[in-house]
Amino acid sequence: MIIYALSIFSIVISVLCRAEQFTIRLPEFDIPRLKPLNYEGGRIAFNTNEIHGEGIIINATVYGLENINFLDLRPHFLNDVFRLEIDTPISTMFINSYVSGRANVLGIQAHGAGQLNVTISDNRATMVITGHVKNDTWTIEHCDLIMTIGSFKAQLNGFFDGIKELNDVLEEFLNEYWPPIYRIIGPVVFKDVADPLVTDLINRFFSKVSFSRIFP
Ligand SMILES: *[C@@H]1O[C@H](CO)[C@@H](O)[C@H](O)[C@H]1NC(C)=O
Ligand SMILES: *[C@@H]1O[C@H](CO)[C@@H](O)[C@H](O)[C@H]1NC(C)=O
Ligand SMILES: *[C@@H]1O[C@H](CO)[C@@H](O)[C@H](O)[C@H]1NC(C)=O
Repeated sequence: MIIYALSIFSIVISVLCRAEQFTIRLPEFDIPRLKPLNYEGGRIAFNTNEIHGEGIIINATVYGLENINFLDLRPHFLNDVFRLEIDTPISTMFINSYVSGRANVLGIQAHGAGQLNVTISDNRATMVITGHVKNDTWTIEHCDLIMTIGSFKAQLNGFFDGIKELNDVLEEFLNEYWPPIYRIIGPVVFKDVADPLVTDLINRFFSKVSFSRIFP
């Protein structure tokens, strides 16, 4: 779950960096140029047929964002609503995090707190950012994200009160069954966590710049 939230962060940051590149003069803005990127934390709750539980991300760092390129930027303007679709490959990301929580994942009970490292490779993301443009300011209302992950490897330490055998079973389980878990968890994280988070992050930037200077 951490991965998804964080990878969205990375995409936003890269969008902003990109915006900075293709405009001539942008005003100063307070978006941190994070490399590696730190995410201090948040809570995520799940309640689907397959997964119940909640998790707390206590601290996470994301590495590997410097390799991002954009395949495509597709702007649409209709009735004051500006919509920007962005495709980007994300070759490899390494996430180092500390999490706690409890969950029933596809029948497996997991609980505890510990270190979770995740390496995901050959990823591809599409982000759709929409919002009204008024008075030459784009106010973002939603960021919808879809991301496909090519390969996934998790490393866990300290879960189940430090019982290594159980910790290792959970690690193997995640590495074996990440695709169905991702299919269930991904949309929840994107909608409930990532959308508001990213919307807020991008608005901090776009509230300070005139729309016509970025998208002439
Ligand atoms: C969060 O993690 C980073 C990188 O591991 C570390 O430098 C930082 O001190 C941590 N912050 C907290 C509050 O634990
Ligand atoms: C439009 O933007 C200008 C410059 O940012 C500001 O001075 C003005 O008050 C704004 N007008 C409205 C109606 O928000
Ligand atoms: C997670 O990554 C950090 C930094 O590379 C490393 O120090 C730590 O041992 C790793 N933890 C696990 C459980 O692999």
